[in-house]
Order: sequence, then C-alpha cells, then structure tokens
Amino acid sequence: MLCWMSPLMRQKSISIVFVWKISVRIVKDVCVVQEVASIKDSYRKKAKMTTEVLNSMENVKCNEVAGVMYAFPRVALPKQAIEAAKVSTNQKHYPDLGSDTTDTSMKFLPRLICSSLTTFRRETMVNEKIMVFLASQVMMGIISTGITEGKGRAGVMSPIPGYSMYQARLLQHNTHQIFYLLDEDNNWGLNMSKLKKKLGGARPYCLPRALVLINPGNPKGQVLTYEDIQEVIKFCAREKLVLFADEVYQDNVYAEGAQFHSCKKVLRDLGAEYSGFQLISLHSSAKGYTGECGLRGGYIELVGFNDQLRSRVKTYLSARSCPSTIGQVIMGLTYNHPKPGDESYVKFSKEVTSIKDSYRKKAKMTTEVLNSMENVKCNEVAGAMYAFPRIKLPKKAIEAAKAKEMPPDEFYCWQALEKTGIYMIPGHVFDMKGSGNNNFYYRITILPSEETFAPMFERLRIFHQEFMAQFKDTN
Ligand SMILES: Cc1ncc(COP(=O)(O)O)c(C=O)c1O
Repeated sequence: MLCWMSPLMRQKSISIVFVWKISVRIVKDVCVVQEVASIKDSYRKKAKMTTEVLNSMENVKCNEVAGVMYAFPRVALPKQAIEAAKVSTNQKHYPDLGSDTTDTSMKFLPRLICSSLTTFRRETMVNEKIMVFLASQVMMGIISTGITEGKGRAGVMSPIPGYSMYQARLLQHNTHQIFYLLDEDNNWGLNMSKLKKKLGGARPYCLPRALVLINPGNPKGQVLTYEDIQEVIKFCAREKLVLFADEVYQDNVYAEGAQFHSCKKVLRDLGAEYSGFQLISLHSSAKGYTGECGLRGGYIELVGFNDQLRSRVKTYLSARSCPSTIGQVIMGLTYNHPKPGDESYVKFSKEVTSIKDSYRKKAKMTTEVLNSMENVKCNEVAGAMYAFPRIKLPKKAIEAAKAKEMPPDEFYCWQALEKTGIYMIPGHVFDMKGSGNNNFYYRITILPSEETFAPMFERLRIFHQEFMAQFKDTN
C-alpha cells in the first residue's frame, strides 16, 4: 500500500504506525501496573482490617497480618463451648460423597469403630484414637513422625517373608530395614532369640524404633498364637519399640483351633505394667468377608500415645487431605453391619457364613493339593488369603533359569503362567531368595471362586508333574 507514496510520505506513515504501537504498549503497561497496585492495596487494607477486627474481639489475640494471606489468631474458648463441640461431634453426619470430610475422617466413624470393637471383640477402649485412612497409605510414614524419642536414622524390624509394600514404604522414608526371618519349621512362627540377635546387629547402624508384625500373615497364611503375640509385646517393651500390628487379615482365619488374637487384647491382658506400651494397629476394608479392595478404606488405632504424638500423626496424615469418602463409608458399613433382630440380619449372616465357609474349603484344599505334589512342602493355610509353599527345584531347572537370566523361582512361576494361566508370585519378591539345598518359594492365592478352584489346581498339578519330568536330575 505504501509503494505509491512519495518517500517523505512513506517515512511519515511509518513513524505514525510506530508511535501508535508504542502508545498502545505504554497504555497497556500503565493499566497492568495500576491493576497490580490496586490488588496490592486491597490486600494491604484487608490485612490491616483483619488484624484490627480480630484483636477487638473478646478472648482473641492476633499478631499483625504482615504478609502471606492468612491470620492465625489465638482464641481462648469458654469451657461450655468445648462441651458443646463434644456433643455435636457425637451426632451422625454423612456428608455428600463428593465433599471433603475432616482430614482424618467423618467425625462419627472413630466412635462407631470403637463401639464395635468393644462389643464384638470385647476390647476395652482407654482413650484410644482411631483414624480412618487408607491402610497402605498410612503404613510406615508414621514412623517418620518421630513417635519415639531420640535422634538418628530410624530402624524398623519387618518380617521375611513379608509384605513387599513395607519394603517400599520403608525405602520411601529412608528407614533402615531390619529383617527378621520367620520360622518355617514352626508354622512361620517367631523365633525370639533370632529377633534379639538381629536387633543387636542393627543397633550400630540405626535407632530401632518399631517392629512390624503381620498377623494373620501375608504371604505365609499363618496365624500367630496368643503366646507368640505375648512374647512379641514383651520383646518390644524391653527393646523400646513401637509395635506396628498389621491385622488386616483378622477376619480371615480358617484352620481348626486357630484364632485371631488382637495385639490390643493381649496387651491389655498383660496388665498395668504395660500401660505405657505403644501400639499401632492397622485394619483394612480390602480383606475379610467384605474384600472391597477397590473402595480403599482402612483405619489405624493408636494405643498408648499421648496427645502431642497423636496430633503429630494427625498432621502427618493431613498432608494427603481427607481419605476417600467412599472408603470411609465402607469402613462405617463394615462396622455397622446388621445385628441380631435387624430386618436384614439373617440374610447378612448367611452371606458372611457362606463367604467364610468357602474360604475355609479353599484353604484346606490348597494345603492338601500342594503337599501332594513331588518336592513341594506347604505349611497349613491357617489364615489370610495365601499359601507359601517351598519347592525343591531340580538342578537342570536352575540351570535353565540361569540361561534365561531369571531367578529359579521366577522361572518356575513364569513357566506355570505360560502353561496354565495361573499367576503365582516368586518367593524372592517377599525376600525369600531360597533356603539352600535348591529350595525356593512362591505365593499362590486362595481367592479364585470355588468353581474355578478344582480345575485350576488340576492344571497346576499336571504342569508341576511335567516340569519335574522335563528337568529331572539324571544322576
Ligand atoms: C499384610 C497387608 N497389609 C496391608 C495391606 C494393604 O491394605 P490396603 O489394600 O487396604 O491398603 C495388604 C494388602 O494386600 C496386606 O497384604
């Protein structure tokens, strides 16, 4: 367009466009500066007003709001108000599922769980604190809240074979792992003298703070005796360790004569001498007869913790905002199930009995079939949802595994998966790399339905026979 103009005119036009652009830019910049100034002014006014108004109130004291966006006044509440709050938290109040609850749970849930524990497990509740939270989320992080005195890298004793999530959590929190081996020849029970030796060996490297006890056990399917638990409590008391009782399989007990004893109950039976003992018990909606894994609900119970420590744990948990409301409702329903006399009680108890009976049958069958296989030995599946058999592999199979750069137990499980479609987890995942003499381990679950169970084990039996024949040692 400028091409037909004289050079002078062209120069003038360019200058006009340039000046116009600069002016627009300046006007825009001035507007931004003015806007920022007005926002800042507004904050300044509001901060001043907040400080003044708060300090003008009875029983309120507030430092000047000098920056950030908040005031943090101290309020001296009258006793009557504190009492009124206690009453209002007593009321049942389900919020909408889509809204936040308080950081740890809906207010009524802890009370509901406490009252259920008192009624059904006959446990005494003495100032215990229940926090509803997804079980695996809360696990070991709590240790890092400094629940015991002293400085230094925290050490936590955890079992082998054990639930691998503990390893992961302990790693996340840079905790020194002190593994203690369970006694296979004693139904995966505890060997206290070995535990003591392990702890002694770890002391130069860390400050031992806690011991994890999984009962009933994953991956072993064992249920500890009353005496076992008593011994562990005494050990922890002597060694000043917090007992971290993972009791998520408490409703999964099958073997005749086996019974779940909660650590809390055993602790209380030990009497006043142990009143200062610190115990954290863990439960989850993912196990038991509910088995609602996807809805992710759970709780922890803190026993023997003072207010200061409890509030630290709460602060730690609050970092994740509130737990899922659906998980909380599931926990509530688990503990608020129909009672005798309720309309749906008969149907409910029938359903629970049939689920438990089915688990019992499958646990028995698993133990029997595994023990009928060549070179396989399995402790009774007394609880939880798993068997953890020991398998003696032929040398040729171990060599074949080496050639494929696989651990021998993984080689066996992988072959089983390819030939039968059954998914088993090699023992090394649970830190059982083998116990010498070419013995290895794997975990298999009893979760599949009863209809699929018998054919599944038939496929496994045939696979095992063929595997053993294929890799049979020649000498
Ligand atoms: C021993 C043990 N503790 C805790 C958990 C975790 O429970 P959740 O899935 O509810 O977090 C599991 C899950 O398999 C488990 O086996």
